[in-house]
Amino acid sequence: MEIVMPYKIALYPGDGIGPEVVAEAAKVIDACNIDVHYTTFNWNTTLYNKTGKCAPENYLELLSSFDAILLGALGNTHNAPDHIAVEPLLTIRKAFDQYVNIRPAMLFPGVESPLKNKKPYDIDMIVIRENTEGEYTALGGRHYIGTPDEVAMQINYFSRKGTERIIRYAFETARNRKRKTLTSITKSNALKYSMVFWDTVFYEVAKEYPDVIASSMLVDAAAMNMVRCPEQFDVVVASNLFGDILTDLAAIVVGGMGFAASGNINPTRKYPSMFEPVHGSAPDIAGKGVANPVAAILSGALMLEFLGEHDAAQKIKSAVVNHLNDGTVKTPDRGGNATTADVGTDIAQRIQ
Ligand code: NAD
Ligand code: IPM
Ligand code: MN
Repeated sequence: MEIVMPYKIALYPGDGIGPEVVAEAAKVIDACNIDVHYTTFNWNTTLYNKTGKCAPENYLELLSSFDAILLGALGNTHNAPDHIAVEPLLTIRKAFDQYVNIRPAMLFPGVESPLKNKKPYDIDMIVIRENTEGEYTALGGRHYIGTPDEVAMQINYFSRKGTERIIRYAFETARNRKRKTLTSITKSNALKYSMVFWDTVFYEVAKEYPDVIASSMLVDAAAMNMVRCPEQFDVVVASNLFGDILTDLAAIVVGGMGFAASGNINPTRKYPSMFEPVHGSAPDIAGKGVANPVAAILSGALMLEFLGEHDAAQKIKSAVVNHLNDGTVKTPDRGGNATTADVGTDIAQRIQ
């Protein structure tokens, strides 16, 4: 799939604060003056209430012709069970083979870490999360439902192809960074098939990258170290579930969910890639116009980067850093009383 201007972007705002933050991401992209054509899909749990489906039957087909997807967040338990609400998200990642989930976590100037004595850029890691298999494999079943003998099985698998390609992507990423350090997260003391296999593949691939400092860390120790000494992490590679959990942790040590951007990438570009903040629909603050849109805005920058618009992506990142450093327009998560739109407008203005 060749990607040319005008870029065809599917906006998938979703539920809760999703629409609030996606609007600001679009505002900031528009300030970059690049030729983008948006189509908005209002697929969410409100649609589920009306139709019994969170998205139309042919949503994959509808999305497949876009250059990229910008998603807000899915989920509102008042309207739909969570595992139904988020199903399109997980299906898109798999069906479009977006096997890389990149989740950078950087402590920006002007943002306070809950950890003591951290200076700007002390924390600068990128988590590469496997995004199509592992613990998120949709295989399993429930038996003897409602009886004392009830059992539930959730099968997870790790294929050689799936494991090798994500690990290789992580090595490539590490090779291109200053510190060239890669930490692979497993739990191979307890999960003796899947995680021992992952470790084996990791050290096989490591041989091809003698320039990268590679090591393996148990996930419980990694959780502890991300709080004790997050500076030590440069590139981190992890399975689907471990990557999910550790990226909420990484987000909070760099100031909160409002700063964490992500990209679900299909490196072959056969299908669209999808960009979204790491956070969810934040029902506790939804509808109040106070969500921090920086995570969505930085996800927009990741999207432009992916589309080859490096200048525009850099402009957005610089505008975000200026905005954070200045610190006059802050949403309540940063101790201010600005609105989501105020923040988007402030960042957009810093682009011109
Ligand atoms: P959450 O990320 O939505 O919220 C966790 C906490 O962080 C809340 O206190 C929230 O107010 C705060 N927060 C999150 N984003 C923020 C922002 N931009 N600005 C300021 N504060 C922010 O996680 P949750 O509460 O566990 O999940 C809520 C819903 O979102 C659930 O339905 C869940 O399934 C769904 N979810 C969806 C996605 C997604 O679509 N990618 C991701 C995670 C959770
Ligand atoms: C994320 C979210 C999703 C995940 C949920 C909504 C299924 O938590 O993107 O981090 O677990 O991947
Ligand atoms: Mn998550």
